Amino acid sequence: MKAARLNAIHSPLQLEDVPLPPMDPPHRVRVKLQAAALNHRDVWIQKGQYAAIVTPVTLGSDGCGVREDNGEPVIINPGSHWGPDERVQSLAYTILGMPDDGTLAECVSVPADRLHPKPPHLSAEEAAALPLAGLTAWRALCVRGAARPGDRVFVNGIGGGVAWFCMQFALALGCQVYVSSSSEEKLAEARAAGAHGAVNYRQPGIFKELAAHNELFDVIVDSAGGEPFAQLLFIAAPGARIVTYGGTLGKITQLSPQIIFWKQLSILGSTMGSDADFAAMLDFVNRHQIRPRIARIFPLEEAQAAMDFLAYGAQIGKVVVRIA
Ligand SMILES: NC(=O)c1ccc[n+]([C@@H]2O[C@H](COP(=O)([O-])OP(=O)(O)OC[C@H]3O[C@@H](n4cnc5c(N)ncnc54)[C@H](OP(=O)(O)O)[C@@H]3O)[C@@H](O)[C@H]2O)c1
Repeated sequence: MKAARLNAIHSPLQLEDVPLPPMDPPHRVRVKLQAAALNHRDVWIQKGQYAAIVTPVTLGSDGCGVREDNGEPVIINPGSHWGPDERVQSLAYTILGMPDDGTLAECVSVPADRLHPKPPHLSAEEAAALPLAGLTAWRALCVRGAARPGDRVFVNGIGGGVAWFCMQFALALGCQVYVSSSSEEKLAEARAAGAHGAVNYRQPGIFKELAAHNELFDVIVDSAGGEPFAQLLFIAAPGARIVTYGGTLGKITQLSPQIIFWKQLSILGSTMGSDADFAAMLDFVNRHQIRPRIARIFPLEEAQAAMDFLAYGAQIGKVVVRIA
C-alpha cells in the first residue's frame, strides 16, 4: 500500500510502498482509509519539536474509512490507553501517528475498540477532520472549562483547527461566543458562522479595551500561550475558567498573581480526552449535526504540501488529505 512516510525529522514526507499493516480480528482490525486530517502535532513531529520521536513512521492521527472485516464506515479515536482516571491520562497513553503508524496511508491497523461509526451526516473528509481536534475542543471547553448554556466564552486564535470546533460547540451549547484572530478575514468568517463578537488580538490594548467595556468571559480557551496569555486575565470574569491546551508561542510569562487571586480564577490544562469524552463529543456532534470546517483538501501524493500549508497558518479549520 501507499503511505506518506517521515523517514527522519526535518525531512519531507515521502510517498512510499510499504507492507499492509497486520490485523488480528476481532481485536485489531484494518481500516481502508478514505480521508485523513492533519494536526499541528504532525508539524511539531516533523520539526523535531515533540517528545520521544520515532522514525521512520507514518504520521496522521485522524482518519475516516471502512473496516476491512465488516465494511462499516468508521472514524478512529486517535487516543489509546487513557486509563481508569477520568481526570488525567495514564503514562501508557499514546496518540495514533507516532509511535504507531498513522493515517497518511491507504490502510491503518488499530484496536477495534478505537473505532466508532462515522457520523452519517458527514462526508468522509468532514468525518476525518473531527476526531483529534473535536476531542481536544470538547474536553477543553465542556469538561475542563465546564461551559454551560448562557456562559460567555472567548476562543483565542479562531483560525486553529481545535479553536474552530470550540466555537462551534459553544454556539451549539447556547453560549455567547467571542473569538480573536490575527486575520480580518478569519474574524469575518467567524462572525458569519455565528460568533457574537470578534477582535484582532494584534490590535494593541485590545484586551484592556474589552474589559473597559465590561466584555468579560466565564470560559476562555487558548492554545497560543507565550507572553500574550497574560492579557487574557483582563477579560476573565470573576470566577472564570481559563483553559490552555497548546503552547504555540512557548512559555507563559508575566502572569499577574493579583488578578488570578482577586478574581478567583482557575487556570486549567487540557490534553486530548478520555474514551468517555470521545463518545460524548461524537454524540453531541450527531445531535447538533455539527459539520467540521475544512480549509483545504490535498491528495495523499501531496501530503507534504498539506503539511506546509498547515504550518504556514493561513487556514481556517482543518487541513484534510483525501486517500481513496
Ligand atoms: N493538548 C492537546 O491535546 C492538543 C491537541 C491539539 C492541538 N494542540 C496544540 O494546540 C495548538 C493549536 O493546534 P491546532 O492543530 O488547532 O493548530 P492550527 O490549526 O495550526 O492553529 C494554530 C492557531 O494558533 C493561533 N495563534 C497563533 N498565534 C496566536 C496568538 N498570538 N494569539 C492567539 N492565537 C494565536 C492562530 O490563530 P489565527 O490564525 O486566528 O490568528 C492559528 O490559527 C498547537 O500548539 C497544538 O500543538 C494541543
